[in-house]
Amino acid sequence: MSLFRKKSLTALLAQAAESEKGLKRTLGAGNLVALGIGAIIGAGLFVRTAAAAGGHAGPAVTLSFIIAAIGCAFAGLCYAEFASMIPIAGSAYTYAYATMGELVAWIIGWALVLEYALGAATVSIAWSEYLNNLLGGAIPYEWCHSPLEKAVDAAGVVHHGIVNAPALLILLLLSLLLIKGTEESAWVNAIIVFVKVAIVLVFIAIGWQFIKPENHTPFFIPADQPSAILPDGTEYSYAPKFNHGFWGVLRGAAIVFFAFIGFDAVSTAAQEAKNPKRDMPIGILGSLVVCTILYILFSYVLTGVAPFTDFQKSGREASVAYAIETYMHNYQWLATAVSIAILAGFSSVILVMLLGQSRVFYSMSNDGLLPKVFADLHPKFRTPYKSNLILFIFVGAFAGFVPGHLAGDLTSIGTLFAFVLVSAGVWIMRKSDPTVPRPFRTPAVPFVSTMGILVCTAMIISLDHVTQLTALAWMAIGLVIYFGYSKSRSKLGKS
Ligand code: ALA
Repeated sequence: MSLFRKKSLTALLAQAAESEKGLKRTLGAGNLVALGIGAIIGAGLFVRTAAAAGGHAGPAVTLSFIIAAIGCAFAGLCYAEFASMIPIAGSAYTYAYATMGELVAWIIGWALVLEYALGAATVSIAWSEYLNNLLGGAIPYEWCHSPLEKAVDAAGVVHHGIVNAPALLILLLLSLLLIKGTEESAWVNAIIVFVKVAIVLVFIAIGWQFIKPENHTPFFIPADQPSAILPDGTEYSYAPKFNHGFWGVLRGAAIVFFAFIGFDAVSTAAQEAKNPKRDMPIGILGSLVVCTILYILFSYVLTGVAPFTDFQKSGREASVAYAIETYMHNYQWLATAVSIAILAGFSSVILVMLLGQSRVFYSMSNDGLLPKVFADLHPKFRTPYKSNLILFIFVGAFAGFVPGHLAGDLTSIGTLFAFVLVSAGVWIMRKSDPTVPRPFRTPAVPFVSTMGILVCTAMIISLDHVTQLTALAWMAIGLVIYFGYSKSRSKLGKS
């Protein structure tokens, strides 16, 4: 069955040893947790929280974070088993190729494009929001919004977006940095992690005093919540099923799920872990636990400081800076500090995502499933520069011309889908290859796998139809490419 041909583990490990020669086992559990947090905290917390609260979950967005964290924890346990079985630098694509065969690997690789490429686009759009806030709104609306967005200003003039230029700019700078080759050293990451966590803690500590209990009641958005008027002048109704009550919290979970994306980045460092068997699960689950606690407290304070309805109006963009400027008087310095920290912190998230995307394409291209251009290395810098440039055009098309919420929801759905496959994969592998050594065994399989599948699928179902259909179309295009191009060119198939 050629569709299910698998890469042998021995070949994979040999290939990895050759391409990743010289990686030293230097990372302990603490470093891995820091690595995870560096890749995780970003636009999900500082932008998507307000979107989830404002449109769907209200103050109960704290529950949305708990649901999303539960889905991630189950899937994370499954990731940890794969990461320990195949302890090489890689991603879900590599695991799947060795365990579930070529077709599933292709599907996961294709879904990961939504995670990494669209994730990078989403964070760059959020970067643009905070830059504009920092500059006091100096960038004209037209030049920092997609053509699919418009807004009515105080004078009643309608502004239409043309292109999100700052988002394009940051993507270009970071793509060039990647081409030059960035050995992001451990201490740079450590500083960024410190700044990000510090700013979250300071906001929680100071904001706590500004919480108004009436902003937290009622906890769930009631079904008869009056409609909101959006910045573009249209009316937003809370009546639809996923815009209030418990179901609203579920859609909120799918939206803020974005905030957890990146913990799987820890699994890509398996080759550098001192004791992968013990440290990988601690790194993956530890960073999840730390972020979950921070997120719950942060969203509790944010929705306590500003009424959730603000996040549909003027607080829709750069929402954390907005809440501080509007409701926490005398703390303008905090709004400025938050924005600066965010601009630096988001850059590192974008970099990790662009790097992850080019790594996945590099592997797929080396396997013959994608054109060779994605694996061509720069003669001097030894980086896949052509791939980085093509990706800049692709990611830039989304960042410049698509609204952040659409790119963000597509990122969530693509990642959730990959998580469902990884959760299922662990269970399938236990049946099909029970004897392969598993340094870390996911506990309570099939319960954990089943829960991972169910919770992630529930979030997928709660997303809106436009997102679901776009993701479906993306996957269909992927299958056409696989059967029309990749299947016959697969190196594994030829050998
Ligand atoms: N979790 C990352 C973020 O929130 C992707 O920006």
